[in-house]
Amino acid sequence: MKKIVLAANWKMYLNESESISFIEKVNSDKVLFENQDIVIFPSHTCIRSVKDHLNLNLKIGMQDCDLNLKGAFTGASSVHSIDVDTCIIGHSERRNIYHESNDNISKKLNIVLNSDVEPIFCIGETVDEKNSSISEKVLLDQLSILPNKLQGKNLIIAYEPVWAIGSGEVPSNDYIHKMLSCTKNRLKSLYSDADMQNIKLFYGGSVSADNINELLEVDLIDGFLIGSASTDFDKFKNIVKQLKL
Ligand code: PGA
Repeated sequence: MKKIVLAANWKMYLNESESISFIEKVNSDKVLFENQDIVIFPSHTCIRSVKDHLNLNLKIGMQDCDLNLKGAFTGASSVHSIDVDTCIIGHSERRNIYHESNDNISKKLNIVLNSDVEPIFCIGETVDEKNSSISEKVLLDQLSILPNKLQGKNLIIAYEPVWAIGSGEVPSNDYIHKMLSCTKNRLKSLYSDADMQNIKLFYGGSVSADNINELLEVDLIDGFLIGSASTDFDKFKNIVKQLKL
């Protein structure tokens, strides 16, 4: 059976002391959390503290990065700024709130693919796009920035319908399957079988302990990008427990 990855996107929910307190609870529940494939994405300012306090071998990521690697870019952080395992690119909150274009996202993706950091590239349609029946077209447009070759690099694509993020509304399994199939077909047309082995597909949007079991029935899902439910230790622990059952 494949090992499902849980990516905990803490967004800007937890400050430094809350992040440390969460990690201390993880440490004291070692048996449950070790051997799980978990990546935690603290706020950039909390990454160092989280890494210093963590006593388990969980991965740590950045929630976003700059489109430059280093230099005179006041206020920016890149994958060169701190040692992380993975980095989220193109999250819908970056696209919609900070107006990030496909062009900027493409630059970020290239920066990350040229580093040792694994990208989680987010795609997904808005409610208006879904209601206009152009969801697949939107995904293909977002996927159009992918490079032609992966050159042995890992890539995670997270399908996160914007209308499901933070709303409590989760698409049906059939709908998720349709969107992930569309994504996978596009990837297959672009990449070799060897490259396809290095690609994982995630689902994100209102994932919780109550719905993860049903979502796991979608066979194309390799992992989940989890926002608010990952910021409450008890809720996150319940999600992890579902994987252990
Ligand atoms: P949510 O967020 O789980 O709070 O819906 C998911 C995400 O934004 O990655």
